[in-house]
Amino acid sequence: ALIVRHRVRNSNPCVKSANILKELEEKCATPASKLRQIADAMTVEMHAGLASEGGSKLKMLITYVDNLPTGDEEGVFYALDLGGTNFRVLRVQLSGKSVIEYKEFAEVSIPPHLMVGTPDALFDYIAAELAKFIADESEKFHLPPGRQRELGFTFSFPVLQLSIDSGTLIRWTKGFSINDMIGKDVVAELTKAMDRQGVDMRVSALVNDTVGTLAGGKYDNKDVAIAVILGTGSNAAYVERAQAIPKWHGPHPKSGEMVINMEWGNFKSSHLPLTEYDNTLDVESLNPGEQIFEKMIAGMYLGELLRRVLYRMAEEAALFGDTVPPKLKTQFILRTPEMSAMHHDTSPDLKVVGEKLKDILGIPDTPLSTRKTVVEICNIIATRGARLAAAGILGILKKTGRESFRDGEIPNTVIAMDGGLYEHYIEYRNCLENTLNELVGENFAKHIKLILSNDGSGIGAALLAASHSQYI
Ligand code: GLC
Repeated sequence: ALIVRHRVRNSNPCVKSANILKELEEKCATPASKLRQIADAMTVEMHAGLASEGGSKLKMLITYVDNLPTGDEEGVFYALDLGGTNFRVLRVQLSGKSVIEYKEFAEVSIPPHLMVGTPDALFDYIAAELAKFIADESEKFHLPPGRQRELGFTFSFPVLQLSIDSGTLIRWTKGFSINDMIGKDVVAELTKAMDRQGVDMRVSALVNDTVGTLAGGKYDNKDVAIAVILGTGSNAAYVERAQAIPKWHGPHPKSGEMVINMEWGNFKSSHLPLTEYDNTLDVESLNPGEQIFEKMIAGMYLGELLRRVLYRMAEEAALFGDTVPPKLKTQFILRTPEMSAMHHDTSPDLKVVGEKLKDILGIPDTPLSTRKTVVEICNIIATRGARLAAAGILGILKKTGRESFRDGEIPNTVIAMDGGLYEHYIEYRNCLENTLNELVGENFAKHIKLILSNDGSGIGAALLAASHSQYI
């Protein structure tokens, strides 16, 4: 392997490495006062995004979901969940009594070349999996003659919806980049692919994963009013008063409400604690200048930020000895699950950290002091991300008046959470919850609950397919 020589600029590597660490810690600091400024900036942008199309970096997309599931939904419905590293197909049987029997098809990971290829290749691949899914379906799921299967399509990218079952892709995020898809109706593309693959199904609802999670969460708990995804990407949706959406010129919904997909990943503010690592990550990304908030808080990027800090320490402070380990140069080689495993290492000699550094980066026999430094960096990056996510939530609570008294009482708010980062990165999750409690204060904290709504987005999409069925 190629060994890269380097010069140690400081004669004392330990001092230099401690300095870099200290600088990182300072730049990533998120005191409550700063988080409040960020939450306020989020609220301001929410208003601007609702006022007019293109009024803010926050798209505040209208979802055409003006009613969340009630529990009365009945029948067999399908969901297709596309948006991260995997996609899933689900069949959900609804009994009309809030009881769900569902079967999930094994998750299929999306071959990376399809994420940057052509629309047809991506959608044909998905439709082919759908075809397999229904091919061996038991008779009990067969629909009456003349009735088509109905699908809720969770497509977790910014989409400008034209109706509940159509919408055009605004842009890709999270490592997808298929230029020919921009501006096209994603439902039309999927429908064409289903025709090509002989799948007899109709998309009756097109939803973002946040909206699916909101619907799935609400089905279980009526106090759910906000949904947040912390996975590969990050985003939030919430129930807004229709009257508070000046850019909505459609008919006034009977419910008086409309679900808004914020696309908060694209939030940006001068208050955000950005570092040189964030800047270079952004510049070298597939979508420079975009999704700045997402790049600080979401699963796709945390491990990559860690790699960038380690790289600088290897180069300038000889963190891993005289040479920079060549593998450390590879973008995205350190994934967030690996970072999480290192961060959670409780063994006295930080065995897991040692193993990961060896297995992933090819660095054998790291001393304990080096391993400790790695854990500290994990902690700084994850803490900043989790605290910023909490500030984002505070922004929504403020916008919706859930962080103040209503008729003399504190409203109950349940936030449906989903995504691998929230589910598996315990330090991150705990830090987020503690920070939110810290920000809202003890009295309000009692009325705000975060629940893990596992699979919520897929089930929620099936529920929305049911409530928008063409047969009812
Ligand atoms: C990205 C997408 C957004 C999605 C989020 C979580 O931010 O743009 O639509 O909800 O990831 O998957």
